Amino acid sequence: MQLKRSLIGLLGVAAAAFAHAQANWPTKPITLVVPFAAGGPTDVVARTLGASMSKSLGQTVVIENKLGAGGTVAANYVAKAAPDGYTFFIHHNGMATAPALYRKLAFDPLKDFEFVSQAVEVPMTMLARKDFPANNLQEMVAYIKANQSKINLANAGLGAVSQLCGMMFQRAIGVQLTEVPFQGTAPAMNALLGGQVDVMCDQTTQTVPQIKAGNVKLYGVTTKNRVKVLPNAPTLAEQGLKDFEVVVWHGIYAPKGTPKPILERMNTAVRTALKDPDVIKRMDDLGAEIVPDATNTPDALHKWLQSEINKWGPVIKAGGKFAD
Ligand code: MLT
Repeated sequence: MQLKRSLIGLLGVAAAAFAHAQANWPTKPITLVVPFAAGGPTDVVARTLGASMSKSLGQTVVIENKLGAGGTVAANYVAKAAPDGYTFFIHHNGMATAPALYRKLAFDPLKDFEFVSQAVEVPMTMLARKDFPANNLQEMVAYIKANQSKINLANAGLGAVSQLCGMMFQRAIGVQLTEVPFQGTAPAMNALLGGQVDVMCDQTTQTVPQIKAGNVKLYGVTTKNRVKVLPNAPTLAEQGLKDFEVVVWHGIYAPKGTPKPILERMNTAVRTALKDPDVIKRMDDLGAEIVPDATNTPDALHKWLQSEINKWGPVIKAGGKFAD
């Protein structure tokens, strides 16, 4: 009887401590895991949001870049992290393409995470090194076709949107290029600037400054319509690559089991950041579009991820490139 009372007492203390930890959250810095290299497109979005969220949460949001296997190393790490409200994850379409790309995936994107919010959408740009001998998409395609065996295509590995976009581009023009994977498009961009690789599809959140500075050649954008930040760039579709469309979307996740009150407060912090004039300006300058407030809910992100898994699965399967 005495033992039973002590146990009940201990459970009560533990429950009270748990409730106290939730009520006072956050009491220390929060980690936001980024699955690609520092300085790249996902990192830029994470750091912009993180800086603003740090203000509203009263604790620093620390960015941790966990690299490898097209984002799946980081996703697996977060899926297995403690659900204590101090680890979060930002990822893009890669969360939806990984199940089709990897035969043995150690996590389930739909089941092993809590869903916090969507965030921003980003167009992609088709680029080549500055001295690539083609001045428009038609010339680029003709040159690639004539020199297929010599052209390198950079990407950030299987699961990266640069890989997805590059795969669709090769399929659309009927070529197979040598793909050079990096651990993010930040190092891939360095290789493009240095002329070690020839072409790359990458997000405006990294490419706009390089395009505007004339450091790379731009052949078009991957969205249905032209983008405000690059008004003179035609879409790939309007230049003849019928229905070519890749838009990068970002979601924020937490390990499964993260307490609901913490998820709700994190959701509020993300939505507050998305209304911060500094965030709006930075995203605008880089061609990113903030997702409408009504869609920034955990439920909307879960539904969206499911629809993206359904959309990309068959496209990837037809592409025939997989990893174990
Ligand atoms: C990055 O942040 O490096 C990119 O999002 C990688 C990619 O998916 O292309």
